[in-house]
Amino acid sequence: MSEQRTERAAVDEEVEDRSAEPAPQQRRISEKQARRRERESQERADEAAAEETVHLKVFRYDPDVPEKAEPRFDHFHVPYKRGLTVLDALIYARDHFDSSLTVRHSCRQAICGSDAVFINGRQRLACQTQVADLDEPVMVEPLPHQEVVKDLVVDMEHFYDQMKAVDPFFSPDEIPDGELVEQRQSRANREEIKMATRCIWCGACMSSCNIAAGDNEYLGPAAINMAYRFAMDEREGVAATEQRIDDMDQTHGVWRCQTQFSCTNVCPKDIPLTEHIQNLKREAVKHNLRFW
Ligand code: SF4
Ligand code: FES
Repeated sequence: MSEQRTERAAVDEEVEDRSAEPAPQQRRISEKQARRRERESQERADEAAAEETVHLKVFRYDPDVPEKAEPRFDHFHVPYKRGLTVLDALIYARDHFDSSLTVRHSCRQAICGSDAVFINGRQRLACQTQVADLDEPVMVEPLPHQEVVKDLVVDMEHFYDQMKAVDPFFSPDEIPDGELVEQRQSRANREEIKMATRCIWCGACMSSCNIAAGDNEYLGPAAINMAYRFAMDEREGVAATEQRIDDMDQTHGVWRCQTQFSCTNVCPKDIPLTEHIQNLKREAVKHNLRFW
């Protein structure tokens, strides 16, 4: 008898528990209301943020216009919104305040490498840099150690010359017979050079390098990284690999690097440039060893 009572009590409790849970429809309505409240509060935060402005202090220089031939800084106050990048802010300033403000840019997603500038004392891609992460005023200058063409645009010719000097293309020992023959690469070798292939030719590393600033003939971190990318690729020809290592083993090649890590610190693609340069130094030493 008492066992029956206990069972009934358990059933009653279960029924009571279930009735305490909201019906599925009620639950969906509550969830929907919660989402709407969250959305509204985010919209209110965005509206409040829209009234905020960001203070930009931008380097200006134009040798072709007499009144701008003297370098100076201009100040712009740009409306802030969530996700605003330095490039967005510069474009806003150009479109709304001064159409002569010049900055080089293209992809706006850290791929083309064209908008490397000096922001708050560090080389960065303007499109990859969130204004919210910076102290104000946000100081934007052209890349140091490069000749300024206009405002934030620098002459990249020397940088491109150094990149081209290392022959940034494959030189296999022999061209495979027939067209469209796939050149396979092992997974391990791919891993070895993976980071080196990420270079977007932005020039930030070169601009940060004290050695490159004082020695115009120094190939610079990006070009040495490019040489490393091909020298370490197993599909490269033996003769070409030896030539590459020889080319690096020069006064203005890898031995100029003083492992200051400035290039590695600023690279927007996180390429371990100093490590690659050190690896090539090691390869150069190995290459010169003679056993009699
Ligand atoms: S190595 Fe990095 S910093 Fe240098 S050019 Fe390439 S992407 Fe830019
Ligand atoms: S605009 Fe292309 S990398 Fe920034």
